[in-house]
Amino acid sequence: MTSFKTLDDIGDVRGKRVLVRVDLNVPMKDDVVTDDTRLRATVPTVAELADKGAIVLLLSHFGRPKGERRADMSLARLTDAYAHVLGRPVLFVADWDKAEVVELAPGEAAVLENTRFDPGEEKNDPAFARRLASLGDLYVDDAFSAAHRAHASTEGIAHLLPAYAGRAMEAELKALEAALGNPERPVAAVVGGAKVSTKLDVLKHLVGKVDHLIIGGGMANTFLAARGVNVGKSLAEHDLAGTAEEILVAAERASCIVHLPYDVVVAKEFAPNPPSLRTCNVHEVAADEMILDLGPAAVEALADVLKTCRTLVWNGPLGAFETPPFDAATVALARTAAALTQEGSLVSVAGGGDTVAALNQAGVADDFTFVSTAGGAFLEWMEGKKLPGVEALMQ
Ligand code: 3PG
Repeated sequence: MTSFKTLDDIGDVRGKRVLVRVDLNVPMKDDVVTDDTRLRATVPTVAELADKGAIVLLLSHFGRPKGERRADMSLARLTDAYAHVLGRPVLFVADWDKAEVVELAPGEAAVLENTRFDPGEEKNDPAFARRLASLGDLYVDDAFSAAHRAHASTEGIAHLLPAYAGRAMEAELKALEAALGNPERPVAAVVGGAKVSTKLDVLKHLVGKVDHLIIGGGMANTFLAARGVNVGKSLAEHDLAGTAEEILVAAERASCIVHLPYDVVVAKEFAPNPPSLRTCNVHEVAADEMILDLGPAAVEALADVLKTCRTLVWNGPLGAFETPPFDAATVALARTAAALTQEGSLVSVAGGGDTVAALNQAGVADDFTFVSTAGGAFLEWMEGKKLPGVEALMQ
């Protein structure tokens, strides 16, 4: 990996204005932040810079306001919650205006208004990038989850000021490098989720990278159907049978073993603990049944696979995990991965919105080597794409 500068290289920041790109795009309901993971992820960088006497100016987007000022997407809504998480006062600056931000004293922090209120942000307009850059002396990017966007505050600005990776970005890049860049082998990838169509590029990229590809969720049904298995009423993209077959052929050529379930949990209706629930061999799914999770024998076999591996990358749940008991396979395999990680035999990296929720549900998110807060950026990285926000930091 090409190298990037970190806060270790930033030198004396006392009295300097440091623009820190964070991702404050968190879910909110009735003005309450419902998941503050992303806010917490920024604490080490903000605390370190503020404690060293920097004037910390925080840049972020929030929602998709498409270049318009919208009260419901103002970062003013979450400044108090953010200050609470940071454990220090945070001012809110309604305009990216130099006059307002110079009032801050060393060690103070301020959140600047949603960068996407300016149409120049998403266009990566050089004029808007210059306007943002003029507010600071240095730029720190701590928002891996927004690094797949070539926007003014994530990409353009990095070329205008001395640019550094924040602590969360640094940890993320190191973990991703350890997982797929230069991993210890054998490597396993778990790819789950509802639809193959959303993860075609991920699967195509992974078959050339990993030794074991474990496919779960609705995606597995598409592969089973492509192999001629009758999946009944299961969610499956039958029109993608040809693509699924191509992926299986590419995997075989690359000596990547693809693991599809051979026992499954099925039901006639999708509801919590339905009366029609049963476990069966994949070849015994009735025409009026749906596959909703992997079966226990498949989970045991997959656990044995993980025991032989040194590295694991995980994206997406194995079953319909929001509805019990269809979370069983995801929870069981996540616990195995967590235990192997704690024993020191596995490096485990997971990411993607649903994945983090699933690992939290299994109570093991803290036991993985690294859990990414990114959604789209994590997927693009799994597709092997270069992320503009990361590229801009590379020297
Ligand atoms: C995310 O939530 O994945 C990031 O904040 C990026 O948001 P976006 O998809 O609106 O660019």
